[in-house]
Amino acid sequence: MSSDMDKERDSNMPKDDAKPDDTMISAQSASNAESSKSAEHEVDNTSVPLSRVEGIEMSPKASFLNTDGVDKPEVEPNETVKPHARSKTNGFVDPETTGHDWDGIEEFRNPDPSWLRVLFYICVFFALTYWILYPSWPTPDDQGALQWSSTKELEEDLISIDKVRQKYQQQFDKASFEQIFQDSQLLQFAMTGGRSAFNNNCAMCHGIGGGGHPGYPNLTAGAWLWGGSIDDIYTTIKYGIRSGHPDGRDSQMPSLGKDGVLKAEEVVMLAHYVMDIGGLLEDQSNTYDKAKASQLFAANCSSCHGGDGKGNHDVGAPDLTDAIWLYGSDYETIYDVIYNGRGGVMPYWTGKLSDSTIHQLAVYVHQLGGGK
Ligand code: HEC
Ligand code: HEC
Repeated sequence: MSSDMDKERDSNMPKDDAKPDDTMISAQSASNAESSKSAEHEVDNTSVPLSRVEGIEMSPKASFLNTDGVDKPEVEPNETVKPHARSKTNGFVDPETTGHDWDGIEEFRNPDPSWLRVLFYICVFFALTYWILYPSWPTPDDQGALQWSSTKELEEDLISIDKVRQKYQQQFDKASFEQIFQDSQLLQFAMTGGRSAFNNNCAMCHGIGGGGHPGYPNLTAGAWLWGGSIDDIYTTIKYGIRSGHPDGRDSQMPSLGKDGVLKAEEVVMLAHYVMDIGGLLEDQSNTYDKAKASQLFAANCSSCHGGDGKGNHDVGAPDLTDAIWLYGSDYETIYDVIYNGRGGVMPYWTGKLSDSTIHQLAVYVHQLGGGK
């Protein structure tokens, strides 16, 4: 604060002309460093402190006339200041403030709207009620007045679901496959249970929906290794295939090349023959000795795959003439299967899943599209 400036200002003040009613600005008291602290309260007759101009509360500290800042507004001493919208002259009362002061900005003491206050009390009431009813305060048993817990809620839900399920479960357990297929509700029950059991236990090998992967048969296509009747499917699921269970399905695609039963060139011939009867050989002219291959097949393969190559469910030998291939339809794979043999393993599920679940799974797999 430069005192020169103050003096200059003071000398510019038309003290005697200043009329409070005319809302003339006199910056004297507001700008005077000495008197600034009391300026708010000491209104002399000849000048009105800016901080009091027309009811605007301003702290002397913040009065713009007190600043040496470059961008202080140009206020001519005689300039008439337009009355503020809330000025006394407009009929408003000098607003009460809370006494809080942030760099000269003061806070009006306005009452909060009643709707907000009502909402606030409702929230408080809700919160208190909630605290009492539900587990939120740390209490010895950590339970609210309602003794509610999410575990308990889940248990109750499960009990009510079980009650509904129990009704069908009993009917389902007594019913034969034939009865299940005739009763749409029992079928629905089996499909729902079967689907979830399948997704949990079988989909990692057979794929969601039973579409299969190389080595893991497609269960929707109707090309069964071990038979597609509901009883066949039930037996396969229950005891597995090469599963180590005494009742499991057993047999093997022998490794005829590796074991020296067939020479490599005979395996080549047989691979061509298999592709031929499977409709995979595009150019059949003179690629292999078909007559010789046919003899080899009859001697080494037909006992399991049948004279016509159409397979045999009793030993799980696949139909070699259809378009569905367990391991692959390319020459290298077929050669490899004949040379090295194969024996896919399907685990048994008896003892691991309830008999009711295995029944549901059999129905589900049968209904996937390939059931016979
Ligand atoms: C670890 C992998 C694996 C799991 C898990 C598995 N399977 Fe299999 N499944 C196989 C393989 C491999 C075969 C083919 C066996 C073969 O080569 O003869 C098979 C064959 C089958 C077959 C016989 C298909 C046919 O053509 O005759 C059925 C039916 C079947 N699985 C149903 C199921 C069901 C239902 C489950 C679940 C409860 C299941 N599988 C779980 C690997 C699995
Ligand atoms: C002892 C019975 C048996 C004999 C003999 C046998 N197979 Fe197999 N073959 C099987 C079985 C079982 C499978 C299925 C293997 C599996 O599921 O893992 C199979 C699978 C195959 C496959 C794979 C089919 C596919 O869909 O991927 C081919 C190809 C095949 N055999 C060709 C032959 C040829 C050629 C011979 C004769 C040289 C032969 N098999 C002899 C039992 C036999």
